[in-house]
Amino acid sequence: MGRIFGVIILLLIIVGVGLFAYVWKKENFAIEQAGDLVVIYRQRQPKQPIEFPHWRHIKKVGLDCLFCHKFADKAVSPGLPPLRTCMNCHPYVPVAKDEKGNPITITPRIKKLLTYWKEKKPIPWVHVFKLPDFVYFNHKIHVKMGVHCYACHGDMTKVTVAKQMRSLRMGWCLKCHHNPQKYVAELNKKEGLNLPLPKVKKARTDCWTCHK
Ligand code: HEC
Ligand code: HEC
Ligand code: HEC
Ligand code: HEC
Ligand code: HEC
Repeated sequence: MGRIFGVIILLLIIVGVGLFAYVWKKENFAIEQAGDLVVIYRQRQPKQPIEFPHWRHIKKVGLDCLFCHKFADKAVSPGLPPLRTCMNCHPYVPVAKDEKGNPITITPRIKKLLTYWKEKKPIPWVHVFKLPDFVYFNHKIHVKMGVHCYACHGDMTKVTVAKQMRSLRMGWCLKCHHNPQKYVAELNKKEGLNLPLPKVKKARTDCWTCHK
């Protein structure tokens, strides 16, 4: 009797662990260490109207982030590129090859792009990185002080569709504010990056900085 009970408990544990691992992976959960706090958060990667491959435009085409996110060093918000920006290149540039190796300029994804253009409709991109309204954040200050985009957004060349690779929790902001150079140096080591260090060793941590 005791033995059967033991086997059932064991089976339940195995099923439980399996289920946990499945949900963890499917829902993109991740762990982040911020000081004494360990936070668990969901790496959101919402479905987009067009799967826009950042890595191709950065690594293969060689575009700068500011080419499309024009206001990152000038304003609170970097902004998303208007469809006009895409039409500088599409559908004129080859984006793939057919079986014979001939260049293709229109794929299903580019076809969608052209449909939005023809119908004069903006592409309804879904936001990935979002702070609650009661938090004040400003891109310009961070970019001017030499904080690299990847420090906060993760390596965009590693994903096809934009993904939330940081928790965006208060403990995360503060961990960097306590010592931005140390934070980025550690990140470089942990994620195999080579980001320049921010210009300062300390950023403000009083409540009014982020809660006005
Ligand atoms: C060719 C234009 C283009 C370039 C170059 C580009 N982006 Fe983007 N970016 C977009 C578009 C379009 C979106 C919206 C689609 C999406 O979120 O996948 C986007 C979305 C994003 C988002 C998510 C925004 C949100 O809504 O939360 C981040 C973060 C981002 N880009 C960072 C970068 C960084 C960092 C670089 C440079 C390494 C870069 N981008 C280069 C076009 C571009
Ligand atoms: C210090 C951290 C940090 C740095 C550095 C940073 N971002 Fe962001 N970014 C954020 C946060 C936080 C949000 C969400 C803001 C909100 O919801 O108010 C965001 C939002 C965005 C968005 C979506 C908002 C929009 O305008 O529609 C884009 C695009 C973006 N960032 C691109 C960039 C690019 C490009 C760079 C580098 C030039 C960069 N970010 C540097 C933290 C950062
Ligand atoms: C400077 C030129 C240029 C601009 C601007 C540009 N692209 Fe591209 N895009 C390319 C090139 C070149 C490729 C193919 C890269 C490769 O060789 O993988 C590409 C590939 C793509 C693909 C992948 C095609 C597929 O079917 O896999 C999509 C989707 C795409 N671009 C959408 C966009 C969108 C949306 C914008 C505007 C936000 C944009 N592009 C702006 C040059 C550009
Ligand atoms: C990777 C490092 C890093 C992260 C992450 C980061 N910051 Fe910063 N932050 C800085 C640096 C560096 C400065 C500039 C400090 C200075 O100018 O002395 C700064 C400055 C600021 C300022 C302006 C303060 C002033 O002096 O007026 C605000 C507001 C701010 N950050 C909010 C945030 C919020 C909110 C988050 C989290 C969502 C965040 N930051 C995440 C590095 C970071
Ligand atoms: C560097 C930016 C920054 C500073 C400084 C900061 N906060 Fe926050 N705070 C945030 C962000 C981002 C959030 C939203 C994300 C979250 O809840 O973790 C937040 C959320 C909160 C919340 C809501 C928590 C919840 O669970 O809804 C409270 C309360 C709060 N902060 C209080 C404070 C107090 C008190 C101080 C000063 C000791 C402070 N904050 C300093 C960035 C900051």
